[in-house]
Amino acid sequence: MIKVAPSILACDFNNLEKEIKLINETNCEYIHCDIMDGHFVPNISFGPDILKKIKSVSNKELDVHLMIENVENFFHKFINSGANSITFHIEALKNPLNTIKEIKKLNTKVGLAIKPNTNLEKIINFIEYIDLVLIMTVEPGFGGQKFIYSQINKIKELKNEIIKRSINIDIQVDGGINRKTAKECINAGANILVAGSYIFNDSEQNYINKIDSLR
Ligand code: DX5
Ligand code: ZN
Repeated sequence: MIKVAPSILACDFNNLEKEIKLINETNCEYIHCDIMDGHFVPNISFGPDILKKIKSVSNKELDVHLMIENVENFFHKFINSGANSITFHIEALKNPLNTIKEIKKLNTKVGLAIKPNTNLEKIINFIEYIDLVLIMTVEPGFGGQKFIYSQINKIKELKNEIIKRSINIDIQVDGGINRKTAKECINAGANILVAGSYIFNDSEQNYINKIDSLR
């Protein structure tokens, strides 16, 4: 089953509550929340206090994508604010096993994210401990970028590893996802699609159609 996670980063923040309520009316599975610290990526987004506000309006699971350093010092704050899953970058934490276990202890799903130029082998030894792998299909930091096609092979490689090991984890893709690139990712083995500008840059705010068109 293909799941969709609209990235709230692309919504109209002047009308955050209204945007979340429109997403509530769609049949997407998650709201993807991009957390950026200005160190791990050259941009800053929002933190745990805003996440709590999103939680108070949303009826969807909150899928939190940490693009931050010092993951160990911050993940609790996002869980306390209502995160249902925490995904952090292997480039930010080279030995992630303890953190993975600590997050799981708090009854929260955990994912490992990987940038376009990082080899899959960096995370492959950890996939048995996690719930999802997030394959970045753009350089993290900004919405609205072009999909990087070379990542399709990484998705296929990961899918093969998952089958080989008979494990059951999600493959999430994030960055430049639209109707066309979504199909290519699904064909390669992805099952969770994150999309920001494709969904929210819609003059009619017809998010229901946009989300359905991705599956
Ligand atoms: C980029 C973020 C993405 C971003 C996707 O660093 O991780 O989640 O919001 O935006 P689009 O879909 O516009 O590429
Ligand atoms: Zn993201």
